Amino acid sequence: MRKSIYDLLSRKGTCPVSMLTAYDYHTACTIDEAGIDMILVGDSLGNVMLGYENTLAVTVEDMIHHGKAVCRGAKEAMVVIDMPFMSYQASVEDAVRNAGRIVKETNCQAVKMEGGAEYADRIKAIVQAGIPVVAHIGLTPQSVNALGGYKVQGKSLEQAQKLLSDAKAVEEAGAFAITLECVPEALAKMITEQSKALTIGIGAGRFCDGQVLVYQDMLGFTNGFTPKFVKKYTDLHAIMLQAFRQYKEECEQRTFPAEEQTFKISDDVLEKLY
Ligand code: KIV
Repeated sequence: MRKSIYDLLSRKGTCPVSMLTAYDYHTACTIDEAGIDMILVGDSLGNVMLGYENTLAVTVEDMIHHGKAVCRGAKEAMVVIDMPFMSYQASVEDAVRNAGRIVKETNCQAVKMEGGAEYADRIKAIVQAGIPVVAHIGLTPQSVNALGGYKVQGKSLEQAQKLLSDAKAVEEAGAFAITLECVPEALAKMITEQSKALTIGIGAGRFCDGQVLVYQDMLGFTNGFTPKFVKKYTDLHAIMLQAFRQYKEECEQRTFPAEEQTFKISDDVLEKLY
């Protein structure tokens, strides 16, 4: 049975929630089969699927295209889809219209949007329209240019106070969960203790109500830079590279395909062709 917001909220303070990103059908099927509670179709797809430098160019159409594939694969996990840059920033109307489009066209269960108190009115309006919302505060990659890079947030007194009030504002606006990205562990713990919403951390330490990772990061998909908060559960880059190299060699040496990978025709038929 599909996990609901109430199933997940009932786990607050007891059993932490697991969440991974996915952007395609097969990955969603496997993540779902593993029993992961929530799947995020993150706008990180701009980086990890489309090769953009940041998430700013990702469109509502991109999110819907990948979101539909994930929703076809996920049977039990709650699917949350990111609202991309400029799909909600300009107005409450944009926010409700785009959130509605994403849910209608993909069949996902919730949307996620970056920003704190300044977007509480958008969260409230989307929730009033019947769509569950996951908020996202701390390091918000859509504001990378304003933040001056991908840095840990909430280290100064002023920033920490802002994060505490943002968490309160998005919870009061109706967000059932709050993603905390790159936030010091002790501050994430404080937010978790003060909030009725589920906190889902990425680089926010051990005391959140749940954790999320980008699946390419945790599988070691690339051999490039890995953020400090990522744990690599395997080295898929090395596994894939080895397989691709072996395939190339076998193509060149004609050892692939071998007899067992070929189809037969009867000698009778074949003879008649000569
Ligand atoms: O887009 C994304 O993958 C995210 C996670 C980093 C939380 O927002």
